[in-house]
Amino acid sequence: MSRLAIVTGGAGGIGAAIAAELATLGNNVAILDINKEAAQETAEKISDSVGRDAVIGVEADISDDASSETALNLVVEQLGPVSILVNNVGWDRIMGFLETDSAFWDKVIAVNMRGPIALTHKVIPMMLEAKWGRIINIASDAGRVGSSGEAVYSACKAGMIGFSKTLAREFARANITSNAVCPGPTDTPLLNNQLGEGETGRKIYEGLKRAIPMKRLGQPEDLAGMVGFLAGDKASFITGQTISVSGGLTMNG
Ligand SMILES: NC(=O)c1ccc[n+]([C@@H]2O[C@H](COP(=O)([O-])OP(=O)(O)OC[C@H]3O[C@@H](n4cnc5c(N)ncnc54)[C@H](O)[C@@H]3O)[C@@H](O)[C@H]2O)c1
Repeated sequence: MSRLAIVTGGAGGIGAAIAAELATLGNNVAILDINKEAAQETAEKISDSVGRDAVIGVEADISDDASSETALNLVVEQLGPVSILVNNVGWDRIMGFLETDSAFWDKVIAVNMRGPIALTHKVIPMMLEAKWGRIINIASDAGRVGSSGEAVYSACKAGMIGFSKTLAREFARANITSNAVCPGPTDTPLLNNQLGEGETGRKIYEGLKRAIPMKRLGQPEDLAGMVGFLAGDKASFITGQTISVSGGLTMNG
């Protein structure tokens, strides 16, 4: 029996690699992404590569409750209840805290924390009904150790780590696990946009490479294996955990 997974922000970057891994493991996947064309293109590509209609792409702005609810309803109507929720969407612009303003804070909080919380609130009742569920929040090492220029984003990611742990406690007896996965610097459009194309960006990129014990940045596929594992039956006794996938950049006890 195929389970249904939702991957938010699955049109590209880390989310696309997660969607591909979950489909390869036999799940059906709904990609909810603000970029409808890219979501549908990625869904088609993954479906072709696994040889079945495993993935659909649906437009949703996760920072807008009405938009994600409409998308969720459409997915459930078409594919049934959701068993696996991967809150992967994330967004930020690197800026010193004092350069940010309240409009920016609101956007960062809406995309990285409030939106994922609202979607999770809608999905958990389906998991309770099935007495089985997997919630995987893609947080960030910024939420564990801080990250200069990312104050509010770091606050949200730390918030998502606390949220994951509390869900783990509240729903453990219903066979629903909840974990946070923290990417370190990973080669995706998000990181590349933040670094920019100039000399400074290149220097930061090279500096990151030097600082990472494995001497390279993460690739989206590096994250997918951990998420696929946590989403499956073999991870049924792992809950409330925060796992960094960062080539050893951060080693938290
Ligand atoms: N790349 C890194 O270095 C890094 C490091 C730590 C944590 N992360 C986290 O990993 C996750 C994935 O990041 P990524 O680097 O793959 O990002 P990305 O920007 O490359 O991809 C994000 C995807 O989300 C979609 N998206 C953006 N805003 C959306 C919204 N409001 N609603 C729906 N979809 C939206 C985009 O269209 C895109 O497909 C994020 O939560 C990010 O914070 C990334």
